[in-house]
Amino acid sequence: MQLNVLTLPGDGIGTEVTREAVKVLEEVVSKFGHGLKLSEGLLGGIAIHKTGGPFPDETARLALDADATLMGAVGLPEFDNVPPEKRPEKGLLGIRKVLGVYANLRPVKAYPALIESSPLKNHIVEGVDMIIVRELNGGIYYGQPRGIQGSGDEERGTNTMTYTRAEIARITRMAFHLARNRKKKVTSVDKSNVLETSQLWRKVVNEVAPEFPDVELEHLLVDNCAMQLILRPKQFDVVVMENMFGDILSDEGAVLAGSIGMLPSASIGEKKASGAWVGLYEPVHGSAPDIAGQNKANPLGAIGSVAAMLEYSFGLVNEAAAVNRAVEEVLNSGNVTADLKPKNTPATCSQVGDAVANAI
Ligand code: IPM
Ligand code: MG
Repeated sequence: MQLNVLTLPGDGIGTEVTREAVKVLEEVVSKFGHGLKLSEGLLGGIAIHKTGGPFPDETARLALDADATLMGAVGLPEFDNVPPEKRPEKGLLGIRKVLGVYANLRPVKAYPALIESSPLKNHIVEGVDMIIVRELNGGIYYGQPRGIQGSGDEERGTNTMTYTRAEIARITRMAFHLARNRKKKVTSVDKSNVLETSQLWRKVVNEVAPEFPDVELEHLLVDNCAMQLILRPKQFDVVVMENMFGDILSDEGAVLAGSIGMLPSASIGEKKASGAWVGLYEPVHGSAPDIAGQNKANPLGAIGSVAAMLEYSFGLVNEAAAVNRAVEEVLNSGNVTADLKPKNTPATCSQVGDAVANAI
């Protein structure tokens, strides 16, 4: 198979972890006899520096042409006080929308080798294996009206959380499809005791559920879900929610996995004529400017995102499994980066990338 992959390394540690992820991708592609055509584009702060905007048209064109896009991270502290419209993050929101990747899958898995890396008690974390399914193209991130108007005491900030029936139904179906191949349980998260968007959310989820009679459905309020994720995380299989709830709860989920550096994500949209999903793959972590340029970052979230790409965009499940096995082998070796608090001297970002590539 010929794989046309666009990389968008972005800012901060994004460039470092993407380099290691590409190393692993090249290795697995050659091991399994596939061809790889890589291109690189600009997104985020680096794109602002080089082109004046966080999401150049050229990047949109490259992403639409590629079979799949692998992203690092975006965000630079120099833009901290800039309005949302002009920030690096706007580039990320732009590409998610242009590609139409409405389903963000964030698997949270407790690897046996990392049990001690989580601050939670072992018996709570052991065996955790869930996927957070975050709606990614709607909700308060994109809702209109938005902005800051007026002045003085009457200066007012506005954001709008809005969902249509169609948007809720498609993400619900995605969650149920995933659950079918797992432990057959969907937890839908909302705030239906307060928000109308959540009331519609719950209604539509209930309407779609009978299409999947083999999958159990439960509803949970988002505040309770935040607590349950820490109290009894093993109860979860597929957890589906709107955009901002998913942003928040997936960071909480990272605590279960030992480090946010571990978490991969796959953002997928419609199926193409070829049968592959349109996909954007990125680690859940941010650009971590505090450790950027020091070869310290954990590349395993980015490398896990390569595995997700192989599986979802190319249907290469054996290749994806080979990457995941190699990651586990490296975790078991204890040769890991500082965020995972290894007993020995921490490995560097590039050493971990080399080790995973060698293990394939
Ligand atoms: C994430 C990030 C992004 C988001 C930011 C960088 C815009 O936090 O992918 O979780 O909020 O979606
Ligand atoms: Mg986030």
